[in-house]
Amino acid sequence: MIDHQTLLLIVLVAILLKLLFDRRNKEKSYLKHPPSPPTLPIIGHLHLLKPLLHQAFRDLSLQYGPLIYLKLGSTQFVVASTPPLAKEFLKTNELTYSSRKVNMAIDMVTYHNATFAFAPYDTYWKFMKKLSTTQLLGNKTIEKFTPIRTKELHEFIQILVRKSKAQESVNLTEALLRLSNNIISQMMLSIKSSGTAKQAEEIKGLIREVTRILGEFNVSDFLVFFRKLDLQGFEKRARDIHRRYDALLESVIFDRKEKRRKSKGEGCDDNDGDEKIKDFLDILLYVSEQKESEIKLTKNHVKSLILDYLTAATDTTAISVEWAIAELFNNPKVLKKAQEEVDKVTKKERLVCEADSPNLPYIHAIIKETMRLHPPIPMIMRKGIEDCVINGNMIPKGSVTCVNIWAMGRDPQIWKNPLKFKPKRFLEGEGSTIEIKGQNFEMLPFGTGRRGCPGMPLAMRELPTIIGALIQCFEWKIFGFKGEILDCGKSKINMDERPGLTVPRANNFIGVPVARLNPIPFLLV
Ligand code: HEM
Repeated sequence: MIDHQTLLLIVLVAILLKLLFDRRNKEKSYLKHPPSPPTLPIIGHLHLLKPLLHQAFRDLSLQYGPLIYLKLGSTQFVVASTPPLAKEFLKTNELTYSSRKVNMAIDMVTYHNATFAFAPYDTYWKFMKKLSTTQLLGNKTIEKFTPIRTKELHEFIQILVRKSKAQESVNLTEALLRLSNNIISQMMLSIKSSGTAKQAEEIKGLIREVTRILGEFNVSDFLVFFRKLDLQGFEKRARDIHRRYDALLESVIFDRKEKRRKSKGEGCDDNDGDEKIKDFLDILLYVSEQKESEIKLTKNHVKSLILDYLTAATDTTAISVEWAIAELFNNPKVLKKAQEEVDKVTKKERLVCEADSPNLPYIHAIIKETMRLHPPIPMIMRKGIEDCVINGNMIPKGSVTCVNIWAMGRDPQIWKNPLKFKPKRFLEGEGSTIEIKGQNFEMLPFGTGRRGCPGMPLAMRELPTIIGALIQCFEWKIFGFKGEILDCGKSKINMDERPGLTVPRANNFIGVPVARLNPIPFLLV
């Protein structure tokens, strides 16, 4: 039994806490939203947007300040564009901003609540994150797949050599997408896209459609009245993409299960030891069969994770290489220095490889400089799960926070001569301490914190080697808009951006590769 004195104490503490809570809430409700442009009824600020959202947000921030509040139809957005604000949202208040907003297309394509990349910060997400970092994208697994990445890179170089000999043009944009898609499809499903491999070709096409639809602007996501109308046919398209992807993955998983069943019947358990595990699908099926597992992985979870990885890995990696090669074409002195570095490391006796990475500091600086100006994902988008006060401003629960890393990369208050491509800035003075792993809030190409990109270690294995091999073996004759040849150093290629979930160059990189050394004797194909 509780005595009277204790009861009185409990009641008093409860009253005190309530008073305090009410006061804090009152204080919060007096707080204002961050500055905001004038709104229109119903559509809010939708009329102020442009297809390149990060550019539209940067322009508004220049007018209204580094923290702005926007209402896009019925959805509230907050845009933050300085490193201290990025830190405040993504580190100080990390738990409030560790979820993402799910729109209609994401919900439909990624198996509703089975997705990892868009999952709320909950037990399922934590389980998948652990699986991703310790097994699927852990160093040991990545290392095991080195021969696949090397073989793919060598095949890619071989194709370019043939084109170079025949003086034929290459669509480098397409070729890079195929390369990164082949690498991740093989790591995940042991399939690759080639003239005959129908499944892999279909997956490549579908992944493109997924990336496109996730990046497009769907009016129904923002205006409540239109939600049911599907004016732009988004729901129909998303349903169709989902149906085709699902049918394809069903058949891939069915074949794999059959294979696993047979190999078990023959007394050879594929998954007993690490060494025998083949690809991500094998690992996922193995985890889904574990009865003691903390989370029971369903087939939908497996299919959704494969989709998450394929979409997250393909475009981002290919786009990064293309932006780097385009910047090098426009900056021949930087290109020459980078070629010298690669030649020194390889002694011109072999093709550059992943193990060379620690000896390529200039190439790493080129990657940082490319990601400063062209982060493949231009904004880090998170959803606030509760009200939050940032710099004295009220940020309402449910609003979408966009940390505009693209704008920060071009801000003259942060970078000297921000529009100049100058990798050296990362090799000297304060710049030499800036990393891209999420601790430096002025450079967040892979995001930061718990929700930061789990694919960064894989991407950072691929990028120096692909860029290094391309500049080691080739220079480029590029065609301008009118079909004229642009000479490296004499004319610049266009660096406009195309809208989407990721930000690629607006125009495909098409040109004739000109060999600077014959890599054929070094190729493993
Ligand atoms: C140059 C290459 C890449 C770039 C620039 C990049 C960038 C990003 C960024 C900015 C995010 C959001 C981070 C945040 O909210 O803080 C992200 C998330 C993610 N990335 Fe990457 N990424 C790349 C490659 C990859 C690869 C190769 C994979 C997988 C194989 C991958 C898988 C993912 C996944 C699954 C997420 C969602 C994580 C979560 O929500 O918890 N990414 N990436």
